[in-house]
Amino acid sequence: MARQPPLYNVEEREFLRAANRFNAQLMDFIRPHAKAGARTIDLDAMIHEYTLDHGHIPACLGYAGPPGAPPYPNVSCISVNDVVCHGIPNEHELCDGEIVNIDLTTIVDGWHGDQSETFMIGNVADETRRLVQVTFDSLWVGIRSIEPYGKVRDIGAAIYKYATERQFEVVRDYQGHGIGRSFHQEPGVPHFWFRGSRAGSQIIRPGMCFTIEPMLNSGTWKTVVDKFDGWTVRTLDGKLSAQFEHTILMTDDGPEVLTLTKDGPQEGHQF
Ligand code: MF3
Ligand code: CO
Ligand code: CO
Repeated sequence: MARQPPLYNVEEREFLRAANRFNAQLMDFIRPHAKAGARTIDLDAMIHEYTLDHGHIPACLGYAGPPGAPPYPNVSCISVNDVVCHGIPNEHELCDGEIVNIDLTTIVDGWHGDQSETFMIGNVADETRRLVQVTFDSLWVGIRSIEPYGKVRDIGAAIYKYATERQFEVVRDYQGHGIGRSFHQEPGVPHFWFRGSRAGSQIIRPGMCFTIEPMLNSGTWKTVVDKFDGWTVRTLDGKLSAQFEHTILMTDDGPEVLTLTKDGPQEGHQF
């Protein structure tokens, strides 16, 4: 039996809402800067400064990596083109035709907020735009698949069906996660489900809080971690990968999306 995720009470839910509200505000702040000519290291510096100016703590900076990897060196993960996730900000200047995911996580009063968006830089190929659209839509398909007292695995099953029917592959090596006072906790939220998979057997109960963060690839679902930095995850075949992430609080009235932004793409958005 998988370990049971924490269930948050009414006071704790307010802390989760506040942390994710700030994180969404940070996304609204950085979105207009994700443009051709911006260096990803400069975007990271702006995210850092905004977070500190508001009195909050960047969750990724110094985060313990997988065994053998160094602590994460930056504030945000910025993943360009074939980088699936955990892209380390660097000197790269965003340019026309690229896609870039910015993944933000902040600690507010001891509670975590976590979300990401993929941006298209200038004019992108039609097939690239379709990847971004289907990835965004697959996140919402996952959110809408949540039934009171349904199972975590229903989310991955819905996302996997939606993506593969549209000829995209779903990354299997990284998943959504419970979130709260710690960054990554139970339940793991796979974005795929096959007959017989054991993962995702937990029941989704009011008070549970978790992320959904599908990564869809134009080619193979297989990934490879950079040997030198120990973090950057790329597609094995070098084809494109896109991702969107929201933090979700399950309530008696259904799923509440805590990381909705004022200015960002809403459910049903057409890119
Ligand atoms: N924000 C990522 C997630 O959605 C995790 C990044 S961990 C880091 O779970 F150390 F790379 F920042
Ligand atoms: Co994230
Ligand atoms: Co996450």
